[in-house]
Amino acid sequence: MKFDVPRLPSLTDKKVVHLQCHIGTDTLSLSRLGASHVAGLDLSPASLLEARKLASATAGSGGEKLAFVEGDVYAAPELLGRGQWDVVFTGIGALGWLPDIKRWAETVCALLRPGGGELFIREGHPVLLAVGDTDPSKLVVEYPYFETAEPIVSEEPSTYVRLEMEGKTFEARKTVEWNHGLGEIVGALLGVGMRVTMLEEHRSVPWNALPGQMVSVGDGELLLQRWRSVGVALLTHDCRRVGAGDREGSIAAVVYSTGCQRIKMGGY
Ligand SMILES: C[S@@+](CC[C@H](N)C(=O)[O-])C[C@H]1O[C@@H](n2cnc3c(N)ncnc32)[C@H](O)[C@@H]1O
Repeated sequence: MKFDVPRLPSLTDKKVVHLQCHIGTDTLSLSRLGASHVAGLDLSPASLLEARKLASATAGSGGEKLAFVEGDVYAAPELLGRGQWDVVFTGIGALGWLPDIKRWAETVCALLRPGGGELFIREGHPVLLAVGDTDPSKLVVEYPYFETAEPIVSEEPSTYVRLEMEGKTFEARKTVEWNHGLGEIVGALLGVGMRVTMLEEHRSVPWNALPGQMVSVGDGELLLQRWRSVGVALLTHDCRRVGAGDREGSIAAVVYSTGCQRIKMGGY
C-alpha cells in the first residue's frame, strides 16, 4: 500500500469498496488513509474471520470504519448497493481469480457513483502472469496472456498464505486462474463507459511472484533479479466512471511509466 499512496485518488471522507479483500489488511490501510467507510468483500469465510478480528483489534485506529461482507465479486452491487460508492480498490492478486473481465468491469461500474466514482487497480502485469516458474534460469511464456474460457489449472503445495510456517499443509491444492491481457482489462473498462486517467507499468511487485528469481528492493517490493530491464511486473490503473452509459471523452490521458521516461498519450 505504501507504493500506492502517491498514486491513489483522495480517499478523504470517501465511501470505499475493497473487492477481494482477503484478511483485510489493505482494507484497514484504506480506512487509515481517510475513507469515511470501507466495505471489504471476499468469497472466503476463513479470510473474513481474520479480517473481522483485525477490525476489532484496530477499533479506534481505523478498524471501526470497516465492514466485511461475504460474497462473490460479481454479486457485489446486490450485496453492497448500486451506484453508491466513491472508490473501488482492488488488486494484488485479485483479477486472476476471475473468469470474465468484461463482467467484472460491469460489476465495478454498477458499484460506483455515476459521474465521479473512481476505480483504482494495482495488479500483477499479465505478462508476468504468463511466465512460468519451472526453470529459474529462463524466463519462459508458458501460460495464456489473453483471457481463456478454460482456466489455467495448477497443483501447488503452498500459496501466498504461509501455512508451512505453522507446520500445516493445504488439503485443497488445486488452483484455477485466468489471465486477462492489458487491452482486455482497459477495453472492458472503456466498454462500460469508464474514463482511464492513469495507466502505469512497473518493474516491481509486492510478492514473490517467481520464487528464486526475485530480489527485494525495499518497502516490500520485489524485482525480477536477472531481467531488471525486462521486468514489467505491475499494472496500476485509475479509472473514473463518467456517467451511466456516457462514453464521451472516454480517454482523457494515458500515462505509460517505463521507468526511464514518461510519455503522455491521448487527450481526446
Ligand atoms: C490474492 S487474494 C487478494 C489479496 C489482497 N489483495 C490482499 O493483499 O490482501 C485473492 C482473494 O480473492 C478472493 N476471491 C477469489 N475469487 C473471488 C470471488 N469470485 N469473489 C470474491 N472474492 C474472491 C479470495 O478468497 C482471496 O481472498
